[in-house]
Amino acid sequence: MSSAKRHTITAALPYANGPLHLGHIAGVYVPADIYARYRRLTGGDVAFICGSDEHGAAITLRAKKEGITPQEIVDKYHGINKKAFEDLGISFDMYHRTSDPMHHETAQEYFKVLDEKGVFTKDTSEQYYDEENDQFLADRYITGECPKCHHPSAYGDQCENCGSALSPTELINPKSTLSGKTPVLRETSHWYLPMERHEEWLRDWITNGKLDGKQHHDPKVWRKQVLGQCMSWIDGGLQPRAMTRDLDWGVKVPVDGGEGKVLYVWLDAPIGYISATKEWAKQTGKDWEPYWKDEDTELVHFLAKDNIVFHCIIFPILLKAHGDFILPQNIPANEFLNLEGDKFSTSRNYAVWLHDYLADFPGQEDVLRYVLCSIAPESKDAEFTWKDFQARNNNELVANLGNFVNRTLVLTNKYYDGIVPSANEYHDIDRSITLEMAEIINTMNAYLETFRLRDAQAEMMNLARLGNKYLADTEPWKLVKTDAERVQTIMHIANQIVANLSLAMTPFLPFTAEKLSKLLNLETELKWDELGSLNLLSTGHQINKAELLFTKIEDDIIEAQVAKLKSTDTSKHKPMKDEISFDDFTKLDIRVATILEAQKHENADKLLVLKVDTGLDVRTIVSGIASYYKPEDIVGKKVSVLLNLAPRKIRGVESQGMILMAENTDESELAFVAPEKDIENGGEVR
Ligand code: 2FM
Ligand code: ZN
Repeated sequence: MSSAKRHTITAALPYANGPLHLGHIAGVYVPADIYARYRRLTGGDVAFICGSDEHGAAITLRAKKEGITPQEIVDKYHGINKKAFEDLGISFDMYHRTSDPMHHETAQEYFKVLDEKGVFTKDTSEQYYDEENDQFLADRYITGECPKCHHPSAYGDQCENCGSALSPTELINPKSTLSGKTPVLRETSHWYLPMERHEEWLRDWITNGKLDGKQHHDPKVWRKQVLGQCMSWIDGGLQPRAMTRDLDWGVKVPVDGGEGKVLYVWLDAPIGYISATKEWAKQTGKDWEPYWKDEDTELVHFLAKDNIVFHCIIFPILLKAHGDFILPQNIPANEFLNLEGDKFSTSRNYAVWLHDYLADFPGQEDVLRYVLCSIAPESKDAEFTWKDFQARNNNELVANLGNFVNRTLVLTNKYYDGIVPSANEYHDIDRSITLEMAEIINTMNAYLETFRLRDAQAEMMNLARLGNKYLADTEPWKLVKTDAERVQTIMHIANQIVANLSLAMTPFLPFTAEKLSKLLNLETELKWDELGSLNLLSTGHQINKAELLFTKIEDDIIEAQVAKLKSTDTSKHKPMKDEISFDDFTKLDIRVATILEAQKHENADKLLVLKVDTGLDVRTIVSGIASYYKPEDIVGKKVSVLLNLAPRKIRGVESQGMILMAENTDESELAFVAPEKDIENGGEVR
């Protein structure tokens, strides 16, 4: 067991620029919640902290895209995400937000302390600038090829493909995300963190777990890929990194010369963990400082692999440089989760959104938690498929866990009116069950202590498997006719295993645990250190009637989800064209017209030659629609015509305009764009 006096557990602050999908949940929030719940159950003093990351280009670019202000964007998604987390049972003690004035003050104060201590250098350098938008381009404002893995669209501060932290000048073939143009270089001054000054202690801390000559943590418990990413970054040579930006959305730089500049979002966001803790302490009458400053606090950061360097190198430098703060004991970062053979993609709308799942599967929150923990990408990328989701629910939750609990509760009600019978003489099998149970629980605890949450959950399920096996081996339903005394012992033990399960499942399946504890009629909460006991329910205790904990998910439900995923994926469509102005649009003169005559083009199979009445005139238009329409079927149809397109000869016939057509992306269907009410010829389309 951990000897820490208190636990500060953080989960990466999600950008409030969109809803959460299952990739986020599997990688960060379900594991963090399991760990936080486990710590509380073992009597730990826990601060489980998260909130919305509301600054940075992720927000401003999204606001621009939706045509609303950054504040409106963060208000919208902060609310949606906070509620979705609550509904999934993610038990944050505080879900804060970085736009809160208290956070601004905290981040500014932190910056000032570092500035006064000489932690930063101030430097003038040339940075990319978008002349069309009059703006410096940092972070997500600039994309280009990753110099490390050659992914074609890495951001200016980070490649989301390989996780490398970058600076814009490292990008190959950089382009502004605002104008799409190649930027120019311009001089600007910024505060830099000279990371190379920290290399020596960072190496010792990461590779040996030593800090200031003392053993700080056990590096063997850190995940291999976390160590690997840190070392490759350090070995690649640490360099000064700008900690401020020329932007107006964010935390203002609080020192002289900082006018018009804000803190780099990756400086401000992790300080968000501190301000969230402060807010929680304020609301609960606690002192926040020990949670960040006392050596006997275990600080743990949960996050996905694209956040590793920020939490393992940059934030620790900032914490240590400040002087008063402790460093994380572990950073159990996860790899990525894929979806049905492809990557999750917000821009393509290729995702299972958490709020959609919660709406489509009410009362089945724990099924999602269970599946996501079972496939959590702890050591390598993993994949979510709806078929696997169904199989894990039906074969594991229903057929194993639910079945064992149900059999025990049904038989107890049937044989003893729900009263837990006495344990009589123990047989060998009863003694070995106790031992096996103890072994499973020890293993589960060891996994929980070392952040192997997926394995820990599998052990919890082994407890249910053990219970099923016990019933199958002892067959109380057969014995009941011949040996009532023996059946009492068996059912006494089966009830104890169910009670153990209700406790062991609590970190993983909190809703089910609550339901089961009601079925067991448990009035006081069981304590974690009671796990393994065969006396959790005393003889004579009255339990309630059995109710199913899980229900089978049928094929049609799963098929509908797969179909939804495919139909909402926008990747099959061509990307949006470059933005145009309203003036550009008004240059198009589009009118309603009627087709008067239609005939095949003499020299081309795919073309029809049409005569149309545009209200202003009758003109000839050549149109490539012969594969979709017969001439005789379209005479008299209303259409829309682009009138002021310069006339051109098509296979010898002059075409005076263009008929507007709508088309499926795969060209499977083509149709006229026509007014849905009767509009006269010559009526404008605008
Ligand atoms: O990658 C992200 O989604 C960031 N918003 C994570 C920030 S974590 C922390 F530092 F706040
Ligand atoms: Zn890369």
